[in-house]
Amino acid sequence: MATLRFDWDTLYNELRDCTKCRLCEKRTNIVVADGDPHAEIMFIGEGPGREEDEQGVPFVGAAGLLFNYLLEEVGLERKSIYICNIVKCRPPQNRDPFPDEAEACLPYLRAQIALVRPKVIVCLGRIAARYVYDRDIQISRQRGQIKKAGIFYVIPTYHPAALLRRQEFTNDFVYDLCTAKKLVDRIRSGEEIVL
Ligand code: URA
Ligand code: SF4
Repeated sequence: MATLRFDWDTLYNELRDCTKCRLCEKRTNIVVADGDPHAEIMFIGEGPGREEDEQGVPFVGAAGLLFNYLLEEVGLERKSIYICNIVKCRPPQNRDPFPDEAEACLPYLRAQIALVRPKVIVCLGRIAARYVYDRDIQISRQRGQIKKAGIFYVIPTYHPAALLRRQEFTNDFVYDLCTAKKLVDRIRSGEEIVL
């Protein structure tokens, strides 16, 4: 589906009663985003979990708390970044979104990207990276590598929930956050980014 040329009001109006995929059936709340709509860094996760569905806010459960903590560790504030997901409604039992659900929801994400115009997009986990720019991504091999996707720079890293299961991923995750932060500074300073 083509990118929708939305303004924020249109986007939120379209999203409010969205029934474009089966995930609408079991949701409590649509989870659109959190943070600064003018942020320089945008983080994209997979889809809402139970707490997110209950509160209507992304990354507020255990993975979100860890994410907030690690953001602060590298000097990024949650309120100064923009964070959202591939699908805006919770997949039952937190299963991966099906391809048709992700495809149905992607025009909203494209509109969010177009409206925020971040300098850098960080994909949190395989599902996000797959749908944002690389169908065949292998996070363990490609994490932390800066790529250009259209006019945006993207960096894939682990999903914060993976860090809850595998603590040894934490250093790499923090390193990737630093890469993203430094990349923003490099772009801001006018440096030519050679990949
Ligand atoms: N995991 C995600 O991918 N997104 C959320 O919003 C919460 C947990
Ligand atoms: Fe609509 Fe996206 Fe929710 Fe599906 S997941 S119902 S496309 S908002």
